[in-house]
Amino acid sequence: MRLTRTWHLSDARQSLVLASFADRLPEVVYWGPPLPESEHIETLAEAAAMDVTGGMIDANAPVSLNPEASRTFPGQTGLIARNAAGQPLAPSFSFKSETASEHGHTLVFTDSNLGLSLSFDLTLTPDTSLLKLQTRLDSTTAIQVEWLAAPVLPAPAHLDEMIEFSGRWCSEFLTRRLPFAPGARLRDNRTGRTDHAHFPGLIVCGAETRNTRGEAYAFHYGWSGGHRMVAEELADGRRQVQFGHASASMARGQRFQTAPLYAAYSPEGLNGAAVLFQRHARDHIVTGARTPRPVHYNCWEAIYFDHKLDELKSIASRAADLGAERFVLDDGWFGKRDDDTSSLGDWVIDHRKYPDGLTPLIDHVKALGLEFGIWFEPEMINENSDLYRTHPDWVLGPAEQIRGRQQLVLDMAREDVRAYLHDRIADILANNNIGYIKWDHNRVLPVIDSTQSEGVYALLDRLRTGFPHVEIESCASGGGRIDFGILERTQRVWLSDSNDALERQRIQHDAALFLPASVTGSHVGPRHCHTSGRVLDIGIRAWTAAQRHMGFEMDPRELTEDEAATLRQVTGWWKANRDWMMQADILRLDSSDPAVIAEQQLSEDGARFAVFAAQIRTSDQILPHPLRLTGLNPEATYSITLTNRDDASRLSRGAPLLKQTDLEASGQYLMSHGLTLPWRFPQTIWVLEGRRL
Ligand code: DGJ
Repeated sequence: MRLTRTWHLSDARQSLVLASFADRLPEVVYWGPPLPESEHIETLAEAAAMDVTGGMIDANAPVSLNPEASRTFPGQTGLIARNAAGQPLAPSFSFKSETASEHGHTLVFTDSNLGLSLSFDLTLTPDTSLLKLQTRLDSTTAIQVEWLAAPVLPAPAHLDEMIEFSGRWCSEFLTRRLPFAPGARLRDNRTGRTDHAHFPGLIVCGAETRNTRGEAYAFHYGWSGGHRMVAEELADGRRQVQFGHASASMARGQRFQTAPLYAAYSPEGLNGAAVLFQRHARDHIVTGARTPRPVHYNCWEAIYFDHKLDELKSIASRAADLGAERFVLDDGWFGKRDDDTSSLGDWVIDHRKYPDGLTPLIDHVKALGLEFGIWFEPEMINENSDLYRTHPDWVLGPAEQIRGRQQLVLDMAREDVRAYLHDRIADILANNNIGYIKWDHNRVLPVIDSTQSEGVYALLDRLRTGFPHVEIESCASGGGRIDFGILERTQRVWLSDSNDALERQRIQHDAALFLPASVTGSHVGPRHCHTSGRVLDIGIRAWTAAQRHMGFEMDPRELTEDEAATLRQVTGWWKANRDWMMQADILRLDSSDPAVIAEQQLSEDGARFAVFAAQIRTSDQILPHPLRLTGLNPEATYSITLTNRDDASRLSRGAPLLKQTDLEASGQYLMSHGLTLPWRFPQTIWVLEGRRL
């Protein structure tokens, strides 16, 4: 078939080449390492055309940006839609127009018989080298869309595995490696929110791909309402990756748009893709984040619903003494909320608990030099609330539905609901000195509908316009709503309700495949962890929080003097390093010991780094394996300090060099042989700092 057009998005890291034959929908004919300037793109597009043989139809239906049923595509199509009469639509699109955008193209294809127009926005962000791809469908008549894929990308035949994300409450971002095999791997998240179990990401890689080596193609769908993903291998051997909104979440109408699909190619292992996502989230998605990132204190696990002004003041004083710079008043300050059965929706200060309003507490917190933050769960309503008694009709979904944490959901598509919430929240913000909101969302939705997330986005956007100085944290029972869609409107995520440092090591390690340290909240929990029952030493608890945006979440009055001294010291260390660490790349290390989770945070200029090596459990072998670093200049010499060498136990009886003194060694040695660390107890951590000499 005649080649009519090509497009090339390219930078120093990757090239994406698209071709349209006979003016039909474009297909990706190359995606991988950057092509040389001399490459003849048209030839390459022609060269990618595959043969035809027996056992198939007489042409290859392309894996286009939206594979079409009308072309007898042998796999999942990119669009499933019906006309007003309920008949399936099988459009056949052809080229209409193209517009160059700043860093890419908008391509428009139409089917004039059906009155449909399909637009693709394709950009490659120059500094972070992340592809941002979005599809829009316009119809001249009202239609029902069951499925619309963001621009569909091929996956290469030589990479045989995929890494998927599942999880649960207190165990977000669980990764699983699966074979990329014939047939379709489907994820359809019908919870109406991003959810703990469905982070919308995928990595296609080789069996040999590790954090620091091998090829990887990574994808993330930036949407908070639940996604659908199809990773499919066709009988002819070709593969496609589709992302879009969860099934049936799009309504009847004339305009439909996917969220952006972000994608990256990496020849440098999982880390190569992870740093592009981390940097893009930090530098392009999140806006308005306070710098330096303030040390956070959250009172939830100290008091739960038991709010007493004097207690809170003494907690705030103690938190400030330990180094906190922000104090967040969690659930329980409003309505008559003494437990989780009532008052959601009644966003007025509870005068039983706060007879003089929040001002006495806020004044106390401000006098300590801390910012004041407050908790809301705006999208929710309890039946036992004044709001429900006045507006039972504002509830989303049928009257007979299963409750979640005894609560129902407000219909955020309604203008009046959004206006009410805006006014209540704005009133609290305008009349109190508040710099921060923790925005919670503690249940799945009773029905899925994209207008719910669009409504939340609109409310957040309006509040941010009115109160640009207020930072917002996205929380949904921990990490139930973490995605680039919500992060465009918030500055921090509460990664997990698990404050168990060992569990958190795993969760934050895997979340770093997409999230930078600056947005990832991590708190020092109580000695006796509330969600796991484990008792952990302050050392591992404090250093684990210090790996991300640090905070505390316990009753700080429970700390012994020794524990307080350790926490003060680690917090001081974090403050001294946060300027560069919150801008650093998190590089996951390939620990050869499965009992050790390790990462290296490398500064933007490569001149300094911190290594965190957590001994999650006892190793199978007697002595620690050397820990190989990454991302260093092999020629350069680095000086390395074991920051917490005083934590060595008496069972470390030998004299490894780092236990005594600093090490000077080449990047080559550090990356090839690795660091020889002292023996340590399980549930402890080594922290090292390195500088290029
Ligand atoms: C769930 C959150 O994840 C917790 O941190 C806390 O804010 C509670 N909700 C409050 O109800």
